[in-house]
Amino acid sequence: MLLDVDTGIDDALAILTAALSNEIDLVGCTVTWGNVDVAQGARNTSEVLRLAGHADVPVAIGAAGPRTGAVATFSPEVHGEDGLGGCADTAHVPVLSRNGLAPESAVEMMIRLSHEHAGTLEIVAVGPLTNLAAALDADPTLPERIRQVTVMGGAALAPGNVSDTAEANIWHDPEAAQVVFDASWELTMVGLDVTMTSLITDEHRARLAAGGEIGRFCAAILDFYLGYYEGWSGERASGNHDALALAVATGLVKTTLSPIVDVHVDCSAGETRGRTVTTLEGEWGQWPEREGARHRVVMEVEPGFEERMIDLLAS
Ligand code: BDR
Ligand code: CA
Repeated sequence: MLLDVDTGIDDALAILTAALSNEIDLVGCTVTWGNVDVAQGARNTSEVLRLAGHADVPVAIGAAGPRTGAVATFSPEVHGEDGLGGCADTAHVPVLSRNGLAPESAVEMMIRLSHEHAGTLEIVAVGPLTNLAAALDADPTLPERIRQVTVMGGAALAPGNVSDTAEANIWHDPEAAQVVFDASWELTMVGLDVTMTSLITDEHRARLAAGGEIGRFCAAILDFYLGYYEGWSGERASGNHDALALAVATGLVKTTLSPIVDVHVDCSAGETRGRTVTTLEGEWGQWPEREGARHRVVMEVEPGFEERMIDLLAS
């Protein structure tokens, strides 16, 4: 698995889950802008991997802002100024170095790993899709070597979280998302309507706080995240967005998938910018399969993954 992250709080939980799960062979992390600027995201990623005992997993820095060149905006109110709810102990962490050589870029790493693991590499993208779109620009043959792409982003049928209609990862860079949805790979979308059914609660945070070093770190960063959600919805319960995407990708959670559909991204400048529009029309089970469409959208996940994930992180 290659994880493309904008390490923020739920990204950190996903990285730890991937690094600690026996079922997952994490071969690299590419970092994009999003929750925080890309340099801080890279520091957070390296630090979280070190905490997991996986400092050997290579980290590569990617895009600093959206595909259009527009100014990047971040989400300090959701993830804290440092992306880790004020807990980032990263001042000492170099942004990236490779024995004094120029570091490999995110695009270079994606392409290299796609050759080294041709046919088996899973890409799980849990930030804005700027890096993936840039990798497709650099090597249009990339999809031929990728087993599957799983995207945390968008929403099949429900409203968004940055606007009435858009989810953050897609809203940050709709043009890049459209390029990624248009590419000829098998792509599964894990949208907000599903990730908001896998909730991390204060009870989970307490279990983590009573755990080991990793558990205590997770509890500390979650304190900030749950506080944000409390202000938003009135409850100390957050979506388990990014970790759920890797669970879907690896079958760690039982998933109900849609038939093959088209996903389009609203790239207009209007109020609906960043909305994912699918051919999932009408009620559950009543939409047509369209010729040429090639995406799957997760409709439901079996409850319980979050319990297993908390146990893993606490222990
Ligand atoms: C997504 O946006 C980011 O804030 C989270 O890390 C997650 O990837 C949820 O909409
Ligand atoms: Ca993310």
